Amino acid sequence: MSVSERTYIMIKPDGVQRGLVGEIIKRFETRGFKLIALKLVHATPEHLEKHYADLKGKGFFPGLIKYMASGPVVAMVWQGLDAVKTGRVMLGATNPLASSPGTIRGDYALSVGRNICHGSDSVENAEKEISLWFPEGIVQYTHNQAIWVF
Ligand code: PPS
Repeated sequence: MSVSERTYIMIKPDGVQRGLVGEIIKRFETRGFKLIALKLVHATPEHLEKHYADLKGKGFFPGLIKYMASGPVVAMVWQGLDAVKTGRVMLGATNPLASSPGTIRGDYALSVGRNICHGSDSVENAEKEISLWFPEGIVQYTHNQAIWVF
């Protein structure tokens, strides 16, 4: 756990189509995390197969890739104390039916196949996912209210 811990959070095509981008960003901002990278990407199946490489043998894998390639996703990196674990708590359980109300999935989703968002499950995987989705690197900036509140 560290104040500079980073996690990769992705709003999936259903979250984008349903107009939930602002709501999801707002939750991470108001919780206190720092947005350090963001872009809209229409990913290729090949890129998504790399992201989900660990799931290659699963029966749902082809459907997952097709769904994730069906429209743009919002790729983001959020930074802050315990960002990986807290990010996962904020998303809710993978299966929305098991997600608590108050979490993103618990408030907005019903089906595991359309569960709105992805969050890294470990610091190690977060760094791998950040490298995969942001190969161009990440801009560093100071998150200091003194710069804009005067
Ligand atoms: S597993 O089987 O335990 O390894 O999988 P799990 O951790 O539950 O989920 C890993 C990711 O696969 C997605 N998933 C699905 N997508 C589409 N259809 C079905 N049936 C399905 N089951 C699981 C799940 O949302 C996870 O995606 P991410 O993007 O990592 O949240």
